[in-house]
Amino acid sequence: MTQRVRKAVIPAAGLGTRFLPATKSQPKEMLPVVDKPSIQYVVEEAVRAGLTDILIITGRGKRAIEDHFDRNFELEFYLEQQGKTDLLKEVQESSELGDIHYIRQKDPRGLGHAVSIAREHVGDEPFAVMLGDDIMVDDSALLRSMLDVHDRYGRSVLALKDVKPEEISAYGCVEPENVDESLVQVKSIVEKPKMEDAPSTLAVIGRYVFTPEIFEALDRTQPGAGGEIQLTDAIGLLNQDQTVYGQVFTEGRFDIGQKVDFLRANVELALDREELRPELEKFLLETLRRRGII
Ligand code: UTP
Repeated sequence: MTQRVRKAVIPAAGLGTRFLPATKSQPKEMLPVVDKPSIQYVVEEAVRAGLTDILIITGRGKRAIEDHFDRNFELEFYLEQQGKTDLLKEVQESSELGDIHYIRQKDPRGLGHAVSIAREHVGDEPFAVMLGDDIMVDDSALLRSMLDVHDRYGRSVLALKDVKPEEISAYGCVEPENVDESLVQVKSIVEKPKMEDAPSTLAVIGRYVFTPEIFEALDRTQPGAGGEIQLTDAIGLLNQDQTVYGQVFTEGRFDIGQKVDFLRANVELALDREELRPELEKFLLETLRRRGII
């Protein structure tokens, strides 16, 4: 019987250079989307899908992440004294999400390297990897369906999204073979291909479910593009021994490491909030009219 996934690993040790100077002294995973740091959305997604053992890979300058998920007695005391019970509840909830562990990646040597240092915590179990700068607003639907695929086949599963041809060179890209409408088997995988060399427009997005054999594949992975240990290369090696599946999804993902996506995430998620929507809609309409866009 297939062992069930219980653990999630959230790599959050990258330097976030695309978001400088905001990320000079604060982690990009702590950039707020509306009023919550983006990594909290990721942790909540894991917990909703039943993954309550969470390992966050942090690094230099990432202490704010640990503080965020910890208790803050002074703040709680102050809010209680002021009778601000709603805020108190929010603050307490962020320190009661799952069972969160931390490990440091001393050198940001790539996403593959970040995943490899989770080995001791994960052990000989399947696990999920969820990138700390990718927000899914689908009520954990994608992650749940990936866990279902893992339960069914006992194999690794990647999240895939069909992107515009000119965007594929920013992603890992797979050559797919269809299993059903939204499930594929990965025939091959390549990191950041040129548009003309890409085997498809299916991009690997920041959600993965891995069998523990990914660690052996990572051991065998040589530094690739940019001198980094690429997770994509390790997945290619794993795929030589075990079928790797891809779950295709369409909606609800924001890469907050990209400025435009970060802004989109803020607007979309604020529009989803009843207390913010009326004023924000009015502001957006007025702004677009004033600028002659509509
Ligand atoms: P990115 O590719 O977005 O890299 O990493 P980055 O360094 O964070 O950002 P840029 O490209 O310089 O702007 C994808 C995910 O992998 C993590 C990041 O924290 C992010 O969640 N990561 C990346 C690590 O944990 N360690 C690494 O060595 C590299």
